[in-house]
Amino acid sequence: MKLISCNANRPLSEAIADYLDMRLTRSEVKTFADQEIFVRIDENVRGEDVFVIQSTSYPANDNLMQLLIMMDALRRASARRITAVIPYFGYARQDRKTDGRTPISAKLVANLISSAGADRVLTVDLHAGQIQGFFDIPTDNLFGGPVMIDDIKERFGKDKIVMVSPDVGGVVRARALANKLNADLAIVDKRRPEAGKSEVMNIIGEVKGARCIMLDDICDSGGTLANAAAALKEQGAVSVSAYVTHGVLSGNAVQRIEKSVLDELVMTDTIQPSADALKSKKIRVLPMAPLLGEAIRRIANEESVSKLFDR
Ligand code: R5P
Repeated sequence: MKLISCNANRPLSEAIADYLDMRLTRSEVKTFADQEIFVRIDENVRGEDVFVIQSTSYPANDNLMQLLIMMDALRRASARRITAVIPYFGYARQDRKTDGRTPISAKLVANLISSAGADRVLTVDLHAGQIQGFFDIPTDNLFGGPVMIDDIKERFGKDKIVMVSPDVGGVVRARALANKLNADLAIVDKRRPEAGKSEVMNIIGEVKGARCIMLDDICDSGGTLANAAAALKEQGAVSVSAYVTHGVLSGNAVQRIEKSVLDELVMTDTIQPSADALKSKKIRVLPMAPLLGEAIRRIANEESVSKLFDR
């Protein structure tokens, strides 16, 4: 098997390679003056089981094109099987028509990935589980939950915690973790007056005197978490932390988190954290390489991936 990385998150690719005790296949991904992308694979991959690692994070379109062009190069170089390892699958929030005459871009991106040559996909915490069905090739959607559970147990010990879903869409995810941690559940009733803005309407559940842990797949502008943290503290929460899988953190999200009453934001490194995020005293990063590396090992050896989550 071979591991190859595009440019979105090289540190994660290196960490996955370390976990598997391998090295990354030598390759070059560069951008011409007119912004076209060029890729060259500098080793033989004929007949190999190849895993291409690339998150389609900011800049989403460039990173997506890198992935597509890399897979095209691999296919033309006679790789036997290509797995697109997409720790963060961008465009996932455009998974349905929200209005008349709007696209379903998540489906379009899934089609592009298959057409470029992917035989399988490995990803983490898709925004909506049903996006797996947008691919007509095998798709493993890993859960970030187990990585977070270990950290929550270590940090919060026997404290009274309440798991909080910051919106109705995240209830299933938050309930699953609450069950595993024997914690209560609360839900934030969030409204989005327009894309990129959010308002808290109500808190459903009892949070007074509790240490609240919000769970979300994405933190983008930081508005959802900042507003929800304020509402939870107003209702008497003792502390409010947030665990998110994908730290998109666009624009001034880091500053917004810093200024908010949120005590801590814990995120994984499916997206390479910015220098600002790494400097922030409120943000902590959990490594995803062991989970992704183990899933890659199992796929290569035709072993069960779902067994990773049997506990
Ligand atoms: C929405 O459904 C997602 O799960 C996140 O809650 C959302 O993307 C967060 O966005 P923001 O940080 O911009 O409020």
